[in-house]
Amino acid sequence: MTYTFVTLFPNLIEGYFKDSILKRAIEKNLLEINYLNPRDHSKNKHFKVDDTAVGGGAGMVMNPQPLFDALDDLKSKDEDVHIVFVTPVAKPFVQNDAKRLAKKSHIAFVSGRYEGIDERVIEKYADEVFSIGDYILTGGELASLVLCDAISRNKEGVLGNSESLEVESFETPLLEAPSFSKPQNYEGLSVPSEYLKGNHSKIRSLKLALSEAKTKFFRPEQLLKHKVTQRLS
Ligand code: ADE
Repeated sequence: MTYTFVTLFPNLIEGYFKDSILKRAIEKNLLEINYLNPRDHSKNKHFKVDDTAVGGGAGMVMNPQPLFDALDDLKSKDEDVHIVFVTPVAKPFVQNDAKRLAKKSHIAFVSGRYEGIDERVIEKYADEVFSIGDYILTGGELASLVLCDAISRNKEGVLGNSESLEVESFETPLLEAPSFSKPQNYEGLSVPSEYLKGNHSKIRSLKLALSEAKTKFFRPEQLLKHKVTQRLS
């Protein structure tokens, strides 16, 4: 699977692939990472890529020309590329999107900087547009990385142990039950005794109860979804 990060600041992104799971996935040729800098496509003699907003308003907006040319170039090389824009003005990215997008052969993430991207670019090129949450980042690079990471771990072979995909939070409406490692007692704090007794059906029902408690506390609307799903099944 290929990712192309369309960004004015590839340095902000590169470091993330230099360690851990995604580094290994690149070494195993499961992932390939490319960068496309709109500045390299600017026809301005000073390679300018932004300007003040038409109609007024604070801040600079990324011009259409460098992005049109960069994205035309990308599409001419791979007509199957799936182009994703990240912006706070979009639907929230969720786990189902991560699973669905893991089936694509090539995804391009377009990151805006400054006050955003000229809307005509999004209108013309976006296959999908996502926000990663109700807050404003200084640019889209972190959001693009968040999507890339969440998508990649759903690709066969990227995670060492494919089982760890099965019972995660958001695979069901419930949040995941708490996990514990060794030792069983640490500084007077013990793991729940049921976890130690080896009765798997009891452990499963305790985990379900803990999942429900966590979900009720942190994400009550998700618990409601769980109850509806249970009633329907
Ligand atoms: N760019 C700036 N803020 C963002 C957000 N919350 N989600 C996606 N892209 C963004």
